[in-house]
Amino acid sequence: MKALILAGGKGTRLRPLTYTTAKQLVPVGNKPIIGYVLAHIHAAGIKDVGVIISPETGSEIKSYIRDGRQWNIKVTYIPQAEPLGLAHAVKTARGFLRNDDFIMYLGDNLLYHGIKDAIREFRKQASDALIFLKEVENPRQFGVARLDRKGNIVQLIEKPKKPPSNLALVGVYIFTPKIHSAIDRIKPSFRGELEITDAIQEAINMGCKVKSETLTGWWLDTGKKDDLLQANTVVLDEYIKRQIKGKADGKSQIIGRVTVEKGAIVANSIVRGPVIIGKGSKIKDSFIGPFTSIGDNVTVISSSLEHSVILNNVFLSGIERLEDSIIGKGARVVRNQNAHKALRLMVGDDSIIEV
Ligand code: DAU
Repeated sequence: MKALILAGGKGTRLRPLTYTTAKQLVPVGNKPIIGYVLAHIHAAGIKDVGVIISPETGSEIKSYIRDGRQWNIKVTYIPQAEPLGLAHAVKTARGFLRNDDFIMYLGDNLLYHGIKDAIREFRKQASDALIFLKEVENPRQFGVARLDRKGNIVQLIEKPKKPPSNLALVGVYIFTPKIHSAIDRIKPSFRGELEITDAIQEAINMGCKVKSETLTGWWLDTGKKDDLLQANTVVLDEYIKRQIKGKADGKSQIIGRVTVEKGAIVANSIVRGPVIIGKGSKIKDSFIGPFTSIGDNVTVISSSLEHSVILNNVFLSGIERLEDSIIGKGARVVRNQNAHKALRLMVGDDSIIEV
């Protein structure tokens, strides 16, 4: 079995962060989302991995994955000139996939359980495709499945206005080569994309055996700000251990599960876990509250923050209270002491500021 990771696309919903970073590289718990995907593929023992990349962010994805040695995989990069849909990505990868079964994993999806058991299940069932479903509160944002009483798939619809159920399609799919003929038969959707959801529906119409499994563990699509913050919360809760590799001075309190990476310094501050503080960062006269990820080489002075994601090289000073926030790489957020609490901000396009 091969794996196909989709790391192309435009990432418009995570702007302004994704003006400068591929959305699959946005960190959750200080690790790029696609890093979790690669770890799952490695754990499932898959060696032959194709990665769909876009002209805009392809080189950044490549410089993270490189030759894949870190995950013991062989990587083939597959450029997709335009983000014309998930099924279009599969079409583009046809030369790589050949006549093999494959698992397709969206590079911005995070899954608690990984994919090892799913592959075992697929082999046992000998079906033509296996898809995964999860109950969600907002099915309109996803592909949605309608099942009959026995749990067989009756209908699949992409981003329905009137969802027939609250069962969303998760961004992981296992296919036999039969999916290619279904893809060849579909037309672009209302959003101009060749939808994998439509291709799977077409495969069902063609008489293929398509099975579904409803996930019990968490699944996170990191497409938007709140999803990303939720992903950060869940991942920190799950994975962060108490590990102080950097330094905390005698005037600081480090409470609970906090990772302080090498070269990081915490001075006269309170840090209440789960929190991760990246390499070379400095926290001074500050409070860092639960569910905060602080990247590498960040400086936080006289500030209080919680439930936030702070990317590498950020400088924060004099910020009384920052919560539910994502601060992009290299940003400076500084309160001017002479400005009588007025905020002075220079902010990129499409930003949302709540003060
Ligand atoms: O996250 C699950 C959802 O993913 C499913 O419920 C939907 O049925 C499925 O269509 C998909 O919906 P999204 O609208 O969230 O897909 P998005 O455009 O965000 O693309 C998902 C990933 O695939 C993302 O990492 C970018 C990559 N991609 C996307 C397109 C359209 C490509 O590599 N090439 C593309 O052409």
